[in-house]
Amino acid sequence: MTERTAVSRMPIAPDGRLLFGGDYNPEQWPEEVWADDVRLMKEAGVNSVTVGVFSWAKLEPRPGAREFGWLDRLMDLLHAHGVGVVLATPTASPPPWLGRLHPETLPRDENGQTVWWGSRQQFAHSSSAYRRYAAAITEDLAKRYGNHPALRMWHINNEYCTFDYGTESARAFRDWLRAKYDTLDALNEAWGTAFWSQHVETWQDVIPPRRAQYMRNPTQVLDFRRFTSDALMECYVAERDIVRRHSPAHVPVTTNFMPFWTGQDAWAWAEEEDVVSVDAYPDPRDPLGGQYNAMIADMTRSQARGPWMLMEQAAGPVNWRGANHPKPPGLNRLWSLQAVARGADAVCYFQWRQSRQGAEKFHSGMLSHAGEEGRTFAEVRRIGAELTGLGAAAGAQVPADIAVLHDWHSWWAGGQEGRPSSHVAYEEVVRAWHRALWEAHLTADFAHPGHDLSAYKMVVVPQLYLLSDAAVENLVAYVDGGGTLVSGFFTGVADPDDRVRPGGMDARLRQLFGIRTVHEWWPLEPQETVRCGEFGGTLWSEELAAADGAEVVAAYRGGELDGFPAVLRRGRAWYLSTLPEPPALRALLADAAAGAGVRPPLSGLPAGVEAVRRGELLFLLHHGRGEVTVALPDGAAYRDLLTGEEHTGSVPLGRFGVAVLGPVSKVARGSGAA
Ligand code: GLA
Repeated sequence: MTERTAVSRMPIAPDGRLLFGGDYNPEQWPEEVWADDVRLMKEAGVNSVTVGVFSWAKLEPRPGAREFGWLDRLMDLLHAHGVGVVLATPTASPPPWLGRLHPETLPRDENGQTVWWGSRQQFAHSSSAYRRYAAAITEDLAKRYGNHPALRMWHINNEYCTFDYGTESARAFRDWLRAKYDTLDALNEAWGTAFWSQHVETWQDVIPPRRAQYMRNPTQVLDFRRFTSDALMECYVAERDIVRRHSPAHVPVTTNFMPFWTGQDAWAWAEEEDVVSVDAYPDPRDPLGGQYNAMIADMTRSQARGPWMLMEQAAGPVNWRGANHPKPPGLNRLWSLQAVARGADAVCYFQWRQSRQGAEKFHSGMLSHAGEEGRTFAEVRRIGAELTGLGAAAGAQVPADIAVLHDWHSWWAGGQEGRPSSHVAYEEVVRAWHRALWEAHLTADFAHPGHDLSAYKMVVVPQLYLLSDAAVENLVAYVDGGGTLVSGFFTGVADPDDRVRPGGMDARLRQLFGIRTVHEWWPLEPQETVRCGEFGGTLWSEELAAADGAEVVAAYRGGELDGFPAVLRRGRAWYLSTLPEPPALRALLADAAAGAGVRPPLSGLPAGVEAVRRGELLFLLHHGRGEVTVALPDGAAYRDLLTGEEHTGSVPLGRFGVAVLGPVSKVARGSGAA
């Protein structure tokens, strides 16, 4: 078990007011519009805006020039109107001149093609020129605004995500590998270069996994992903350290994650942040969009180990799906309050005012093209007003008895070419497991397999193909210590070098789950199901021999695996060798949870109603369009913080309805801040 170093998270809402606002890009508008912006921000209850995310060319139109006048006026204006600023370093989008003067700052893709300016994020993370210019503009920005009274938080770069296969990246990759392996012998051994004549004799022969004739060396690919995450993090840390030097200690630093983005080991990154923030864009048309929003919240809260910041969401449609659907009335409010229920202390959007030009002019804003009379803005106003009354949530914790284990390194290794099945998408498997818990009304955290798990009554592993020895021992110790562990298929197969463990699965795990032998993996076709006892399995099946003392919970029926165990259990450790269809997975996890003493916050919850506790509050969120009634525990009286109404016995919820229930005595005293 790896101890997580103590990170002291900084409060997001120190004055007990949840943050509400969004990215504000005033450089896209004549200054006359700004006065209108602050008037409407006030009207909508906006108390925080993120400024400067893509302002590099405006701040530094020529190399070394500094144009801070507009930003001075803007910061003062926002401050005068009580709107705090999350100030961004502009380094996600270098101006065209940087690419012209220093072509080496432009990334190269796997084919060696240059990624040009003309969009955004065209920076090579390991380019020394890029890092020099980024540090310089960051330094001057921090010096100028580090003590500005409007400054609330620093936002570094934006959604770090670029890969680079170019020359400087190759050099940095070699340095990273030297630090990791020390010798080429160790690298050759870890990469298994005896295969296909890949032995490297000099460091010059070590390159990023550029385009090749056929499948590339999987450990080279895995290490390159690790390196890329680390190289981007170095860029973040460099800018973070600069802004910290020039601002008071109470100003936190963040960078906004994309949720479940494959390019970043966000467990490691989160340890470097004062506030953990994320951008959440579930599809309004997805019937399980609410579940995805919950999963993003659970992951971000777990990275933050407490309150987190919803840095971006959309008030209406995005503009990067096939068809970009608006949010039907009430959905923006529902998902915003859902984020608060699951630990957010800030609810923000991309972006404040919808653009009229540029690539995102059809992406919604809080203030859409329809303007202040529009439906979108009306709902934004309502959300702003309601959040003002939810100070009792600020800073409060969301209790969870279950942890879902997730690890980027395992994702990177398990998702490569040449595996038993290319139909298994790791993120979909994780989502299926989280969905099962969500539908069973069980609140879950996420955790890394190396974390201390002892606080959880149940731990689930949707799939961890790669596990270190320490992680395996952590899981074994967790079960030995009384924990319930439920694991999905193709887990514990490889070590951290992506070397298959003897027997196809770690021996300690086989012992834990009661598996004597893994004979073969039998992946399924995308629409295929396999019968297992009473339910259907999808995606995968395994030919396993059970060990003595293992209980076969369900066996395969029919087909090649007829009679072989599908779900095995030894004591508190369960192994699912397939992905059960949703109702079956839900029932199975609910059963295991009940056995572990985990119960939903309320019993008898109707389908589609999510119930989450946060501190002393109970959030009820209705994801459906009809009317439902939620039964409350006998004898308890609650007050809905949103309406002020008192409820005993039950609460009715309409279409996308939300109730935030506090104990009557507490709320009656009018407690504002937690
Ligand atoms: C990301 C970016 C924003 C914007 C939105 C659009 O989250 O950070 O700048 O492009 O996507 O959805």
